[in-house]
Amino acid sequence: MMAIFDKFQALAETRRELEKSASSFFNIVWEEIISGTEAVVNGRRVILAGSNNYLGLSFDSDCIEAACQAARQEGTGTTGSRMANGTFSGHVALEKELADYFGRQRAIVFSTGYVANLAILSTVVGPGEIILLDADCHASIYDGCRLGGAEVIRFRHNDAEDLEKRLRRLEKRNTNVLIVAEGLYSMLGDRAPLADIVAVKQKYGAYLMVDEAHSLGVLGDNGRGLAEEAGVEDGVDFVVGTFSKSLGAIGGFCVSNHPELDLVRYASRPYVFTASSSPSIIGSTRQALKFMSARPELRRQLWENANLLYQHLQGLDLDVGPEPSPIVAVRYDKKEEAFAIWNGLLERGVYVNLVLPPATPDGNSLLRSSVSAAHTRQQMEHICKSFSETVT
Ligand SMILES: Cc1ncc(COP(=O)(O)O)c(C=O)c1O
Repeated sequence: MMAIFDKFQALAETRRELEKSASSFFNIVWEEIISGTEAVVNGRRVILAGSNNYLGLSFDSDCIEAACQAARQEGTGTTGSRMANGTFSGHVALEKELADYFGRQRAIVFSTGYVANLAILSTVVGPGEIILLDADCHASIYDGCRLGGAEVIRFRHNDAEDLEKRLRRLEKRNTNVLIVAEGLYSMLGDRAPLADIVAVKQKYGAYLMVDEAHSLGVLGDNGRGLAEEAGVEDGVDFVVGTFSKSLGAIGGFCVSNHPELDLVRYASRPYVFTASSSPSIIGSTRQALKFMSARPELRRQLWENANLLYQHLQGLDLDVGPEPSPIVAVRYDKKEEAFAIWNGLLERGVYVNLVLPPATPDGNSLLRSSVSAAHTRQQMEHICKSFSETVT
């Protein structure tokens, strides 16, 4: 009989191979967090160029103060599910503030963005119904689909024509179809063609859910994401997002105008069977949410940094993603090459994410950088210079 971990032999072999060229990859521990853009790893001070801290709010003094105050007043944890003893007044207030911010009637807060996707996708559609999802959607979306019982069909990434072809074939099925796309895709930072997707959805009477995890705070005049930027918010039935990126905390949400959204609270296992967010998280997130539209200068700075890095890497002839965005990814055919550059950057004091297949689109290996409004000009120049020295 096989031993219980034998099925991971291929994975273990890949790990052994990679460890030969960059053992530090598997031992990244942030020994000291200096700020939202700097930390110490293996005794070395590095610039964080791989976090999703787009607006730099994880170190904002008002957000920190709000977190501390909430912890002092309400304790370190709720020690219970939203359905039992875990709904504090802060959870309810945040839901109202999210609904107001998005101009929607209803909002539900979840413990993480991952849980938000599990909850909505496993509950809103079920057996006999259909989810049509962009092939490059995040793992949490795939897992949510798996947890429910709906039939899952993928359409080609960012291809509204392929989506329409599939909707046309489904017309005779006479069942609910939920289309799922993301605002900015997490690996390459490209936008969904949302106006086209909304037009197709309306033509075929489908529903649309957009995960704005990476676009909240990043796109739109008020930071509401791609739907705001594209002027199609009315065409999106469910917006899902996370607190773990622009809002600088951890948690997830769904907003919708659907009058029955609250039924998810009773029918969804990922809502019912997990503890609710701690008061400090709710406190800092409520403060960060206020900054989304009140501090547009953060978004301007973020885009200045994003354009700078994208153009610099393009100028180095690297295979960057299709459009400038705060996520600046470089594609490599060979993981060894991506690994060597990742290592070279780390030696120069720059940390970016190394993402290997199958977590990447098209089987490429990716060096995924991401920038923050909090990166200073000096830090941005150091990141650019480090890339120049490492890739040439
Ligand atoms: C598109 C997308 N959705 C959901 C999530 C999950 O968010 P969280 O980290 O809050 O669980 C992520 C996380 O990276 C993501 O990229």
